[in-house]
Amino acid sequence: MKLETKLRERLLAAWERSDAIFGLLTADALLARPIALRQPFIFYLGHLPAFGWNQVCRGVLDRGALHAEFDALFARGIDPVGVDRFEPADAVGWPAPAEVLAYRDRVRGALLESFDDVAARADLDLLADGGRIFAMVIEHELMHHETLLYMVQQLPGDRKVKPRDLPAYRFGGAAKRREVLIPGGAVRLGAAFERTTFGWDNEFPEHETGVDGFVMDTTPVRNGEFLRFVEAGGYDRPESWSGEAWAWLRRVQHCHPSLWRRDGARWRYRTLFDELALEEAADWPVYVSWAEADAYARWSGQRLPTEAEFHRAAYGARDGELRAYPWGDAAPGPEQGNFAFRHWAPTPVGSHPEGASAWGVEELVGNGWEWTRSRFAPYPGFTAYARTYPGYSADFFDEKHYVLLGGSWATDVALIRRSFRNWFQPHYPYVFAKFRCVAPA
Ligand code: AVJ
Ligand code: FE
Repeated sequence: MKLETKLRERLLAAWERSDAIFGLLTADALLARPIALRQPFIFYLGHLPAFGWNQVCRGVLDRGALHAEFDALFARGIDPVGVDRFEPADAVGWPAPAEVLAYRDRVRGALLESFDDVAARADLDLLADGGRIFAMVIEHELMHHETLLYMVQQLPGDRKVKPRDLPAYRFGGAAKRREVLIPGGAVRLGAAFERTTFGWDNEFPEHETGVDGFVMDTTPVRNGEFLRFVEAGGYDRPESWSGEAWAWLRRVQHCHPSLWRRDGARWRYRTLFDELALEEAADWPVYVSWAEADAYARWSGQRLPTEAEFHRAAYGARDGELRAYPWGDAAPGPEQGNFAFRHWAPTPVGSHPEGASAWGVEELVGNGWEWTRSRFAPYPGFTAYARTYPGYSADFFDEKHYVLLGGSWATDVALIRRSFRNWFQPHYPYVFAKFRCVAPA
């Protein structure tokens, strides 16, 4: 297919989903800020188009401003400068939604008219070549779908509307947890720039490293398993927590996963739109912060895998083969994992056995990002190659973020690739993020 046709289709599909996600909100919810560290929804309504204009039309085509005030107001994304320095934008008087929507539509029109001008620069500009700058805008929008949904999940039920056509929850078919030995060996991290249609700066360059053998759980920790940690007083005992995590726990009075709610003697579990009994979700992976994952692992005498160990378990195989995906080289499909909005909720762990890796490790991709114990850091030889967006990763190489790999139910297939890296702070409890434990061989 012609590059332009493909980019157009991908842009339109991303916008359609953006509109559907904003369509989940009641009118008054646009100003809601369900996660204190995030901006209100209306910011993101303007942020997605502002990013498109700022990257493609201003950044690559040098066209200057479309709407100087909005281009700037909506420029800066989320997790701006970290927990402590974040300035809530409540004080800002937000523009009327209709103005933001008009801005969005002008940007969308301009982007659809920009294919030829960008293509004309392909020989001079790395970001124009192969439509990279459009891929960047598309993937940025796709990532925000997921971050918006974290916010929707935290929003009270009377400020959102459940679509009638959501798939039914899945409760059966979980696999038993086993432990498998992953033999030591070489690991190839990152991607080769010349052989990659698009990747973010932090995915390059490709390089080799190695890991020693280790034992890994074949399934991630589920709500039912995590409940035992909670009932054993896990949140009340400092032994399982790092000093920093314990201080955070006390400060914010966090005492269970953020999607759980205690109702007398029972536990309830919050999905995007409903509340279930926790028992119903017992086989779904538990979504927790890094600190909670780390505490559980310590409590069970294990630890979280490193980024390289995750890669060895997911993409390695006995004969030194390197797979594109845990299941092999076939493009991601519905049998292989819970991603790409097929379920709009977690599914029982191990219910996609076809997605298992060469070693029989299940669910490495889909059903929740997986926390690693590796801090988000540049690969050796990193460059912030996107001159229009030099801070995408570099602003977060601060030793305060941890790498997550794989993907969740709300991750688009475009982001399901071996080199893709996600990152969040250790005390951020809203990510669709699960974890599994490893132990020495
Ligand atoms: C890569 C998901 C951590 O949400 O902060 C969006 C993606 N960066 N806009 C984030 C991002 C700028 C980023 N994560
Ligand atoms: Fe952003």
